[in-house]
Amino acid sequence: MNANPIPSPSPSSLEALNDWVADVAALTAPDRIHWCDGSDAEFDALVAAMQADGTLLPLNHDTHPGSWLHRSDPDDVARVEHLTFVCHEKEEDAGPNNHWMAPAEAHAKIDALFDGCMRGRTMYVIPYCMGPIDSPLSRCGVEITDSPYVVANMRLMTRMGAPALARIEREGKFVRGLHSTGELDPDRRYIMHFPDELSIKSYGSGYGGNALLGKKCHALRIASHQARNEGWLAEHMLIVGIENPQGETHYIAAAFPSACGKTNLSMLIPPDAYREKGWKVWTVGDDICWMRPGEDGRLYAINPEAGYFGVAPGTSDKSNPNALASIQRDTIFTNVAVTDDNQPWWEGLDDRVPAKDWQGRDYVAGNGKAAHPNSRFTVSAKQCPSYSPQAEAAQGVPISAIVFGGRRASLVPLVFEARDWTHGVLVGASMGSETTAAATGQVGVMRRDPMAMKPFCGYNFADYFGHWLSFDKPGAKLPKVFHVNWFRKGDEGDFLWPGFGDNLRVLEWMIGRVKGEAGAVDTPIGALPRPEDLDLAGVELTDEAREKLFGFEPEGWKSEFDGISEYLAGYGERTPQALLSEHARIAKRLDG
Ligand code: GDP
Ligand code: PGA
Ligand code: MN
Repeated sequence: MNANPIPSPSPSSLEALNDWVADVAALTAPDRIHWCDGSDAEFDALVAAMQADGTLLPLNHDTHPGSWLHRSDPDDVARVEHLTFVCHEKEEDAGPNNHWMAPAEAHAKIDALFDGCMRGRTMYVIPYCMGPIDSPLSRCGVEITDSPYVVANMRLMTRMGAPALARIEREGKFVRGLHSTGELDPDRRYIMHFPDELSIKSYGSGYGGNALLGKKCHALRIASHQARNEGWLAEHMLIVGIENPQGETHYIAAAFPSACGKTNLSMLIPPDAYREKGWKVWTVGDDICWMRPGEDGRLYAINPEAGYFGVAPGTSDKSNPNALASIQRDTIFTNVAVTDDNQPWWEGLDDRVPAKDWQGRDYVAGNGKAAHPNSRFTVSAKQCPSYSPQAEAAQGVPISAIVFGGRRASLVPLVFEARDWTHGVLVGASMGSETTAAATGQVGVMRRDPMAMKPFCGYNFADYFGHWLSFDKPGAKLPKVFHVNWFRKGDEGDFLWPGFGDNLRVLEWMIGRVKGEAGAVDTPIGALPRPEDLDLAGVELTDEAREKLFGFEPEGWKSEFDGISEYLAGYGERTPQALLSEHARIAKRLDG
């Protein structure tokens, strides 16, 4: 091991930070250490260096100024849940929902990989703040990485550099994230979390969710553990503001699993008739939501992120015009295809034929997808036309409704409302969804994904459900809880609901319920709208669609509830009794 990396003057006055950086340098033996200040000049220099060594390829700068393509290793294109560990001292604190390793063993295993791994390379020290820099709800971290691609992405995704460092020095506390791309060998790859130490170690992947440690690793796995101790919630949710024609804005937080429509819903464009009446949609966040009770008893939310790491395929001027407008300049694209004039391209964008696929090979029609199904764009949130000014508000936005949802081809109707908070927690805890390309493994398999947090909860789900239930206390003014399914399919295998902008019709119904104005029918699973309770003017639905989107299927729900019961039993005696009683109450109604 090279014990003497070239010293670099530390701009920090915080001893704990300097000591940690020195320890990491002693372990990883970089040639140089660079403390990131987050300036434009720094970003430009990094981009120039990455262009020179081929990490970033310029796109057509006439059509897409300031935009770049990164082609990752073909074996490094998604999160790796089987290599992601949550390392509490006791296995039961990680829960059956996580892969667990004892902290000492995990450190030993991954430190052996880090040993000398930055030799010949630059080690970057990235101070960052998750959330508005002046918000009491925000939390800071420092990521050390040898990947300039990670630095550039962190600059778009977080508030990074000098202001974050100043806050870290003031608070003296920060999450420590150590990352190296290593050899990109899937057999030498681990994403390790140490919630009690507020630390993360990630080796062997450059992919977003594995390498941009502020995102899923810090803002969800570590933060969920912190949130439990401190009385708040760190959730895998978008936050969107819906402004009605009277100028009143309701904020909705929605949890959908990866690649199930968060970015799209957060940026939706109202249908024409709604736009003409004056409805507006404001994007606060598209992936992560931190919420805590305010003095008035309501939940207030911030988006800890400053950018979007969005799924490219399917993004078009029809499905998500705001996302498309956001990524016309100053965007990093990862694993998309390109056209013959070097513009970024993916399936679902338009009917041009790409010239090169995501691996840079000549595109041959019929020879697989041109863009990787999990290809992504990274862009600053400020470029989104619907970006909410309230997204920068230190106190956050008050949440009127919480929505859970997943991809369910059958059984689950378009929308239903939980009767109260406890029922809402059960609805979240029993969420199911078909798997997507956002994680490696089989796609399209139904699995339980409570609150869309299966891959992201930093502790035992049973305790997490209990934490959720604990918010229901005297003085609390909790949001109403709903469940949606944009992905119900008909017998022909086609989606029955038009989705995207038309999802506003469903959000309008929810706001109507919050205000006590919209109608519904009571069923054992909750309150369901009748088709006439929604504004469906201009939406053409077949009889099959009406029946399946608005219907309640008692037999199917009986077996669904058996499945939920089996799932909850997997958490043994730790499962909160209130949740089991709620399940029993509904199961009894289904039987009766
Ligand atoms: P996220 O990863 O949860 O942010 O998901 P995205 O918003 O990026 O969407 C993932 C995929 O689902 C994309 O291919 C979208 O086009 C598609 N999608 C999003 N919303 C809808 C919808 O309302 N209906 C249908 N059918 N597809 C949708
Ligand atoms: P998302 O997450 O799919 O929920 O947008 C990004 C990731 O996989 O890191
Ligand atoms: Mn997204």
